[in-house]
Amino acid sequence: MKTIIITGGAGFIGSHVVRRFVKNYPNYRIVNLDKLTYAGNLKNLKDIENFPNYIFEKADIVEEEMIFSVFKKYNPDGIIHLAAESHVDRSISNPKEFILTNIVGTVNLLNAAKFLWQDNYNGKLFYHISTDEVYGSLGEDGYFTEETPYDPRSPYSASKAGSDHLVRAYNHTYGLPAIISNCSNNYGPNQFPEKLIPLAINNIKSMKPIPVYGKGENIRDWLYVEDHAAAIDLIFHQGKSGETYNIGGNNEWKNIDLIHKLCEVMDKKLNRARGKSASLITFVKDRAGHDLRYAIDSSKIMKELGWKPTVNFEQGLEKTVDWYLLNEEWLNEVVSGEYRKYYELMYKNR
Ligand code: NAD
Ligand code: TYD
Repeated sequence: MKTIIITGGAGFIGSHVVRRFVKNYPNYRIVNLDKLTYAGNLKNLKDIENFPNYIFEKADIVEEEMIFSVFKKYNPDGIIHLAAESHVDRSISNPKEFILTNIVGTVNLLNAAKFLWQDNYNGKLFYHISTDEVYGSLGEDGYFTEETPYDPRSPYSASKAGSDHLVRAYNHTYGLPAIISNCSNNYGPNQFPEKLIPLAINNIKSMKPIPVYGKGENIRDWLYVEDHAAAIDLIFHQGKSGETYNIGGNNEWKNIDLIHKLCEVMDKKLNRARGKSASLITFVKDRAGHDLRYAIDSSKIMKELGWKPTVNFEQGLEKTVDWYLLNEEWLNEVVSGEYRKYYELMYKNR
C-alpha cells in the first residue's frame, strides 16, 4: 500500500483531488494534511470521510516540527502539495501570510520529504501544484508555455513563483524527484465565494450588486475543477520528474462577458425575467496591479500524457450553479461570520 500526503485537501481543488484519489485508488492510503484556514472546510469531503483509506491530519505547513512529525508518522511515498494562501486580493492586503504559507511552508515540506527519503528516492515524488499567474500578464495575443520566463506581479503570484523555484532547486541540487504543474483559473463546486464565479453566484442569488473590477476587460482561461483533478492524477502517475506541465481550459473569457453568461444561467435557474440578474452588475474600483490576461498553452500535457479538458464551459457553469443552489447550507455557513467582515473590508472602498 502506498501512502500519499495531499496538502490543502480541505480546500477547493484539494477536495476534488482527495476525493478522486480516495475513490480511484483503494490501495493508496490518502492523508489529507490541512490547517483548516478560512478556506479549508471538511464538509467538502463529507461523502468520503469514512472511507478506510482516508485520513485527515490537521497541521500547519509553516510549523516545521509538526510537519516533520506528520511525515515520520505516515512515511509517505508521495506528496501532492496544494496547501496555499490562494486569493490575489487577500495577498494585496496581507502579503506576509502568503510568504509564510506559500514559501516557508513549501520549504518545510521539501525538507521533510528530503529528510525522510534520505536520498533513497526510488518510487518517491514531490508534486507541487502551481498557477499560471507566475508567468505574469499577457497582452492580447500569445500563450504561456512551460518555457515562458517567470514574471509574477502580485504578492500571491510572487509567493507561488518563489515556491516553484525552490521545488526546482531541490530537484536540481539534491535530486529530489519533483514535478510542477501550472494551471489556469479553476471553477466548480466547493470554491470559496471570494473568487469571482462563486462570489457572483452568491450575490446574484441574494440580489446583491455583482462587483466587476475596472471595466471587466481582464481575461482569464477557465477550467472545470474536475478536469484539473484528472490532470493532477495523470501527472502524478505518468509525469516525468524534473518536468513542468501547463494545464489550461483553452477557454478564455473577458470578465464582463463571463458575468453576463453567468447571469443568463442564473435567470434561467431562478425563473427570473431575462436581464434581471445582469441588472446587478456594478463596476467598481480596479484591483491594484490587475493582470490583464492569462492564457495557457496546454499542448505538452495533451501530447505527452493524453490529457484534455472534458467539460465545456456551458456544462461546467450549469453544474456549478446547480451545486451552489442545491448546497445552500454550505454556502450560508461559509458566508456567515468572518466572511461578512472580509466582504465589508474588501469592497467598502471600491
Ligand atoms: P483554497 O484557498 O481553496 O484552499 C487552500 C487549502 O490550503 C485550504 O484547505 C487551507 O485550509 C489550506 N491551507 C492554507 N494554509 C495552510 C497551511 N499553512 N498549512 C496547511 N494547510 C493550509 O485554494 P485552491 O483554490 O484549492 O488552490 C489549491 C492550490 O492550487 C493552491 O496551491 C493554488 O495556488 C493552486 N491553484 C489554484 C487555482 C485556482 O483557480 N483556484 C489555479 C491554479 C493553481
Ligand atoms: P479571481 O477569481 O480572484 O481569480 P484571479 O485573480 O486569481 O484570476 O478573479 C478572476 C477575475 O475576476 C480577475 O480578473 C479579477 C476579477 N474579479 C472581479 O472583477 N470582481 C470580483 O469581485 C473578484 C473577486 C474578481
